Amino acid sequence: MKIAFFDTKPYDKPSFDKSGEKNGIKFKYFETKLNEDTVELASGYDGVCAFVNDTVNAKVIDRLYEMNVKFVALRCAGYNNIDVKHAFGKVHIFRVPAYSPYAVAEHAMAMLLTCVRRIHKAYIRTRDFNFSLNGMTGFDLYGKTVGVIGTGRIGRVFIDICKGFSMNILAYDKFPPKENRDDAVKYVGLDELFSHSDIISLHCPLTEDTYHVINKDTLAKCKKGVVIINTSRGALVDAEALLAAIKDRQVGAACLDVYEEESEFFFEDLSGHIMKDDILARLISMPNVIVTSHQAFLTEEALINIAQTTVENIVSFTENGYCTNEICYRCGATSENCKNGKCF
Ligand code: NAI
Repeated sequence: MKIAFFDTKPYDKPSFDKSGEKNGIKFKYFETKLNEDTVELASGYDGVCAFVNDTVNAKVIDRLYEMNVKFVALRCAGYNNIDVKHAFGKVHIFRVPAYSPYAVAEHAMAMLLTCVRRIHKAYIRTRDFNFSLNGMTGFDLYGKTVGVIGTGRIGRVFIDICKGFSMNILAYDKFPPKENRDDAVKYVGLDELFSHSDIISLHCPLTEDTYHVINKDTLAKCKKGVVIINTSRGALVDAEALLAAIKDRQVGAACLDVYEEESEFFFEDLSGHIMKDDILARLISMPNVIVTSHQAFLTEEALINIAQTTVENIVSFTENGYCTNEICYRCGATSENCKNGKCF
């Protein structure tokens, strides 16, 4: 079986080669992203392996279908870059629903601690033998209130980490658990979460509902000095509104692993180039903003799990004609009623 692997990075290959070899799957690695201009590269392959910033829109899907490419195996959890509706009946879409929620949740906490304890500043100062503490005052997380939006796999792990710091936890989820068995977590409406949280961490998917959930109006409802953490998807945050709120001191700090327009920049070495995106450049220039380039998933454990599940998805589909991790437009990607691709 031959799979065209798009947007390849050096750290992808070892785990995919290992998992692929065991199962008779040969990956052809392309550095380019999948989009309308590059889709022809998939000609002659049984399937495609894609990542977060590949474009799988209607045109790409139609061309894959014409070329008899049977599936797109996403090596990520989020699928906001896929036209799932258009793919139905043409190209099967699989994803890796979970690979290490710990990787992302721990990264969110790492960014938060870095930001509030000024570790990013201290690292640079002490390397220059500058041992001054001026401007380094942080604040305790103990006793602070964190608002978690989206309490699925990653949100739950992040909550557990916050519990270790004895933080108060407010949570909002569009589909909250029927019974909240965790006394340490209080489910509230979004408005209450915004107005009572010292820190807000986003762990919901990007959907029509959640697009720009952090915007000018919602930021105005927040406590002055609120810290915003986004390790989920860039477009959950209106970056322009965030920048304005940072300038106004309404937002005290921002930890961003994702950015609305990241597909043009993230994962690439642009150090010798002129940064075209003024908002990203201005955010990065702020002393109270930390940007990492969609790095939260990147642990050894996660890479192994991603490769294994992607390969298992392909094998399951090939051998059984369906895959439990299929994203099915008709019965819903994560619905318990999902017929595992059989309604395709
Ligand atoms: P999950 O599916 O386990 O949890 C998502 C939660 O969000 C669910 O509880 C769901 O009910 C809730 N939700 C759905 N719509 C909502 C809405 N409108 N408002 C509030 N909550 C809503 O997903 P998981 O594994 O926890 O991942 C969360 C997100 O993290 C993914 O969608 C993905 O975008 C992002 N992610 C980021 C990574 C990174 O490297 N930065 C890596 C992996 C995931």
